[in-house]
Amino acid sequence: MERYYFCKEHELAEGEFFVKTILDRKIGGIKLDDKLYFILDYCPHAGAPICKGKVKNIIIKDDELVAIRCPWHNWLFNIQDGLPVIIHIKQKLLHFHYEILSNEIYIML
Ligand code: FES
Repeated sequence: MERYYFCKEHELAEGEFFVKTILDRKIGGIKLDDKLYFILDYCPHAGAPICKGKVKNIIIKDDELVAIRCPWHNWLFNIQDGLPVIIHIKQKLLHFHYEILSNEIYIML
């Protein structure tokens, strides 16, 4: 696994995706409650650019989570674990590990 520069820490705004292509993969980074998440900009259902979807807080069975609504067919995915919400399929969002070095974020590929 290698480290690739993604962006400076301050370039990630709370609740908004920043998308960058690294090695032909579009990767979206987002900050939620000061935690960072990096996902492949590809919906596991049919390949939509999932990072263009709306991010929203939802409550499922008394648990509050942050979900993204796919722009093509409106499926919801939990951003934290990548799993689909409500719909029972095995495919989930692909997450990437990252490192922060001197206020710069690097993605592990
Ligand atoms: S492509 Fe995302 S829900 Fe269909």
